[in-house]
Amino acid sequence: MTRRFARFLCLAGLCALLAPMALMAADKTPYGQQMPAQGMMPAQGMMSQGDGAALLYHITKEDPYVKWNLMPGTTRMRQGREPHGSLQNVYVNKLAYKAVMDKTGVLPDGAIIVKENYTADGKLGSITALSKKKGYNPEAGDILWLNFSPAMKILAQGKVAPCIGCHSAAKDNGYIMPLTK
Ligand code: HEC
Repeated sequence: MTRRFARFLCLAGLCALLAPMALMAADKTPYGQQMPAQGMMPAQGMMSQGDGAALLYHITKEDPYVKWNLMPGTTRMRQGREPHGSLQNVYVNKLAYKAVMDKTGVLPDGAIIVKENYTADGKLGSITALSKKKGYNPEAGDILWLNFSPAMKILAQGKVAPCIGCHSAAKDNGYIMPLTK
């Protein structure tokens, strides 16, 4: 067992204990307030957890995002914009990394971006991800959206209206928001 994995397990265990507190805290973030409630409700995800659950498994177990590169041009615990928390780490998988480096302007099928959203005092609030899937949702950039807690609870997944709504501002950029430095 690698040390990083052990740390991860430890963190996940701790967060499982703190989950009720974390969820309460999550409700108070601007993130929760700015989003139409129904889009962020677990109930919506319950309708079909399949896509989001598979993505969650992929980015935490099969190809753990914590081992990916940071989005080129960004630093660890970068100052972010709401609603995503004031401090963020933005990770890109290999396909997304290559597309950004090659300046292709579009994410290819299979590209994934994961954003860890931290509070100003450095607590991991939630993790948001977008995964490019050809044919998944042609009307809105073919993106599968996912929001999950540090305790791995899926908070929203699929064609999530609030994610799509806000990210539509960057429609011409494939729904990828320009990241502030
Ligand atoms: C109210 C607007 C808003 C909503 C709602 C929103 N986002 Fe974002 N998102 C942003 C902004 C702004 C950025 C760029 C952040 C920065 O520079 O700090 C961003 C960035 C991201 C990124 C990094 C890639 C990129 O686009 O730059 C991911 C991944 C992401 N959001 C996922 C999600 C998911 C998943 C949801 C829904 C659960 C969501 N977002 C909802 C505004 C929003």
